[in-house]
Amino acid sequence: MMRQKKHFPIKGDSRGSLIAIESNKDIPFDIKRIYYIFNTKPSVVRGHHAHKTLEQMLICVSGSCTIVLDDGENRNEVVLSDPSSGLYVGPNIWHEMKDFSEGAVLLVLASDFYNENDYIRNYDEFMIYIRSIHRAG
Ligand code: TYD
Repeated sequence: MMRQKKHFPIKGDSRGSLIAIESNKDIPFDIKRIYYIFNTKPSVVRGHHAHKTLEQMLICVSGSCTIVLDDGENRNEVVLSDPSSGLYVGPNIWHEMKDFSEGAVLLVLASDFYNENDYIRNYDEFMIYIRSIHRAG
């Protein structure tokens, strides 16, 4: 599975740090929506879904968390603990978010508006969907 970690350049000076992210320049899509996850209880696992078309960039802008990625064949875990690294999650990747540190804020840049029809929220359905894509491709 492609592990799509991306480094965003820090524009730092004596005052501190700043990162700017522009659509189709620093990330490979138009940003139509942002959301952020915070106040997450330590034992919570979020996500548990895949998207059929949505592209997202996940950035843990404060604290740390772990992202589980599953393409139907391999399962990987990526720790995000640095505001200058992003994790690209494209379509057809089952993902879970866990191990949020105290005060963690996970910022997500998304290529489209919220659309429940784009979600696959059941793992068995995800596997059936992935196999149908592989057969078609
Ligand atoms: P949910 O999909 O359960 O979050 P996660 O993937 O992190 O586990 O979303 C929680 C609630 O927020 C759910 O009622 C749907 C809603 N929601 C929106 O209204 N807009 C959004 O952009 C997102 C991501 C979620």
